Amino acid sequence: MTPDRERTWSSGAGTAELPRTAPPSSGTGVPAGSFRGSGSGQRFGETERTDAWWLQPLIQAVGLTLLGLYATWAAFQGRFYEYKNYLSPFYSPLFTPSWWPFSPAFLILGIPLGFRATCYYYRKAYYRAFFGDPAACAVGELKSHGYCGEAKFPFILQNVHRYFLYLSIVVLAVLWIDVVRAFSFAGRFGIGGGSVALLACTGLLTLYTLSCHSLRHLIGGKLDCFSCVAGGGPRRKMWSVVSVLNEHHMGWAWWSLFAVCFADFYVRLCALGMIEDPVFYPFSMFDVSTKPFG
Ligand code: FES
Repeated sequence: MTPDRERTWSSGAGTAELPRTAPPSSGTGVPAGSFRGSGSGQRFGETERTDAWWLQPLIQAVGLTLLGLYATWAAFQGRFYEYKNYLSPFYSPLFTPSWWPFSPAFLILGIPLGFRATCYYYRKAYYRAFFGDPAACAVGELKSHGYCGEAKFPFILQNVHRYFLYLSIVVLAVLWIDVVRAFSFAGRFGIGGGSVALLACTGLLTLYTLSCHSLRHLIGGKLDCFSCVAGGGPRRKMWSVVSVLNEHHMGWAWWSLFAVCFADFYVRLCALGMIEDPVFYPFSMFDVSTKPFG
């Protein structure tokens, strides 16, 4: 096999010649004291940028605060999370052991919370929105000295993201079971408002999970050459699909977060009796003795 043939299915990683520079003195990429780019060492918010660089971190801060407050409030409730065949995604998988005195959401929420908190996109979003570190590219940072990246405690814990990914895939499988249940009304196939809300929520969560940077790396990002390893063809195909999804990871992150909150809100309103859940039975159209809505 020629070198060119061997690299037919290359991901591109490691194919370019690296510049011959001295290795960094620390593990954070750039030697301490060297130039770290425009914005470093400047006063907080100081920049030569003339665009509305502050708008995105501001929107992210407002969005994360509002959705985070709702999720916290919903988790503390510990009731009105179920209605007929619907279960709020904040409470799934549902565990209600008799010895647990708090909301059952707290038995499970650590997984999605840890997954999102360590997500590469959310890290960027909340570092910018809440820590101003940096607030945006080429903008003065809130804390421009003593930068150590994510190499020290507590931020070194961000490296456990991959393990939260594994756990989240298990939770996702349970959420799909909830979706199937949400379309079954006393053993009869129906489509309710909650069925659609839970389907949209779990579908978006699936796209968010499948577009994960860690998953992309696991499938093929760490490979220099697909055609050099066993199963390289299928892995390359999967990697290509995940790569397309990965380009929109930020969008999936926001839409899935919104959809989870909305699904909980919908189930809660139904459980509180504040709205009536409309259910459509598509197969009843062929049954003259049954009304399509019930
Ligand atoms: Fe965002 Fe993995 S990088 S979920």
